[in-house]
Amino acid sequence: MKDSDTSYKSVAKSMELYYRAHEVIPGATQLISRRPTRFAYGFSPAFAVSGKGGNFTDADGNTFVDWVSGIGATILGYCDPIIDDAVKSQIDLGSMYSISHPIEIELAELLIDRIPCAEMVRFAKGGGDACAIAIRIARGTTGKDRILFCGYHGWHDWYLAANLNENELDEHLFPGIEPIGVPSALKGTAIPFPYDDLNALEAKLIEHANDTAAIMMEPLRSDFPSDGYLQGVRDLADKYGVLLIFDEVSTGFRPTPAGIQPILGVVPDIAVFAKSISNGYPMGAVVGSREAMEPAAQMFISSTYWSDTLGIRAAITTLNELQSRKACDTIHQTGQLLKQEVSALIDAHSLPASCSGVDWHPYIRFEASLDTALLNTLFIQEMAKRFVHMGTSFYINAAHGDSEIERTLTAINEVFCIIRHALDAEVVADLIETIPRTDAFRRLVR
Ligand SMILES: Cc1ncc(COP(=O)(O)O)c(C=O)c1O
Repeated sequence: MKDSDTSYKSVAKSMELYYRAHEVIPGATQLISRRPTRFAYGFSPAFAVSGKGGNFTDADGNTFVDWVSGIGATILGYCDPIIDDAVKSQIDLGSMYSISHPIEIELAELLIDRIPCAEMVRFAKGGGDACAIAIRIARGTTGKDRILFCGYHGWHDWYLAANLNENELDEHLFPGIEPIGVPSALKGTAIPFPYDDLNALEAKLIEHANDTAAIMMEPLRSDFPSDGYLQGVRDLADKYGVLLIFDEVSTGFRPTPAGIQPILGVVPDIAVFAKSISNGYPMGAVVGSREAMEPAAQMFISSTYWSDTLGIRAAITTLNELQSRKACDTIHQTGQLLKQEVSALIDAHSLPASCSGVDWHPYIRFEASLDTALLNTLFIQEMAKRFVHMGTSFYINAAHGDSEIERTLTAINEVFCIIRHALDAEVVADLIETIPRTDAFRRLVR
């Protein structure tokens, strides 16, 4: 498909806007995950103009069921009236001032009451921002520089520095990212370790025994690790005297209204939150033990908009609504239903695939022996044609109801039929009308 080819007319305006954006915005989007090449280029919408509940309307006027949920940020649904009214009332009082507002303390106390590791709190405006604060605090508190990490933790220098050494982010983010603009002096300061492998982590801790500040990791994404793994990481952190930081930006408040720690029974020294904490309003938080956090009072960690009351008001209201509506239960029930119904459709079409994963973030996976990149592309393309916006996983929010589920399952049934035929007739590649999806960065930046 050529850049100028908007053969699938449904998203023609989206694609025009995308070309226009390229002229004035390097990379065209602010977030890699919003690039249409991450979905089905030319078929998936690229620009939304409004959202409600579990759906958004794109620039062409199409309404899509949305299983990406604002890349996880939307946990109660778009335009939730209670969250939005709370934010609107806050606007009437002023979004921020020359001095602090008491709701900063209110949110800090709420997080401390709720999250097992939280005794002190700092705020931020996003996930990468909050991760960078946590790393500064860990380095400042321990007086050590090196970070061992596992997973994705945002765009900042401390993390991208890993790719100054070979292509260390290949397994944690995606291949092909050049650390352009990251100071070469940071080489060796961020070292990745593989997930679910305690021996590999201990080997890295032994290798860097004297100068490691912290283990920074996503405790999980779509599946639980082996039994005892995360407790084993906690024990290793204690054994080698390093801080343990859980990046809960992606798991967020879907597992429970207190995040993932109550389910895991493992308590880190510091945890990082953003996205679902505030149902789509800019917000992030770093929470941790008094011992780990208090030295931050002496560190220069300071920014004007971290006191912005709109994100803070949205976070307080979202956290309270999650609890009073039992929204996590709703999300888990939707996930269980989707896994059950999609698995039944997989069986009905005898597809070499499965639908599994944690209840709040299930995913569809085609058997590894097949060309999964092509099959995923075909799936996403055909779902987009049926006005369902998704990759191959479901980022569930509490506003996904019967209508969204029914429309999605109807579409999946039709798409699985196409895929069954494509596999039988060996024409999967022929049915791809878009750019085959890839996880490599270079392909994303045209
Ligand atoms: C685990 C994790 N950490 C950090 C980030 C970065 O958050 P943000 O995009 O808000 O900067 C993300 C974003 O996807 C994430 O999933």
